[in-house]
Amino acid sequence: MKRIFVLFALILALAGSSAGLAATATAVISGTQPGSSVGGKVTFMETSEGLHVRANVSGASAGKHGFHIHEVGSCADSGKAAGGHFNPDKMDHGFLPKDGIVHAHAGDLGNITADAGGSGELDLMIPSVTLADGPYAIAGRSVILHEKEDDFGQPVGNAGGRIGCGIITLDE
Ligand code: CU
Ligand code: ZN
Repeated sequence: MKRIFVLFALILALAGSSAGLAATATAVISGTQPGSSVGGKVTFMETSEGLHVRANVSGASAGKHGFHIHEVGSCADSGKAAGGHFNPDKMDHGFLPKDGIVHAHAGDLGNITADAGGSGELDLMIPSVTLADGPYAIAGRSVILHEKEDDFGQPVGNAGGRIGCGIITLDE
């Protein structure tokens, strides 16, 4: 009898720990132009301090490239179908980790700096944004890598064309 109880407690503990697993999502970046060498991957993990975003890109020109979450989960029409920066509260453009959700678009991730070989990485903790729940949920939206640097000017940072795009998909 005691053994059955221990087994039952173990099953409950396992069920509880799987329910507590952090939600994660992935976006695979592809070039928006035919024959483009741009590629990359972005992973998102919900934590108690915010959303942990890690990205690596390759095939870009050396230097800074604006990097944002855009509103629509589509990379069609050379990335234009992704729409504008994700901005549910109609705020000014900024840098979310520094400016916070009331002084930046919810999609403002700043820049990724590519090295001479065209590769770059980003590791950011962004406040307020979630994957699936609430007004700042980003699953099903897109990430866009831009041609030029985001200089944080208004209205969208002057980052120019869209060279890479990926759709943010919840991991199973
Ligand atoms: Cu953008
Ligand atoms: Zn913006």
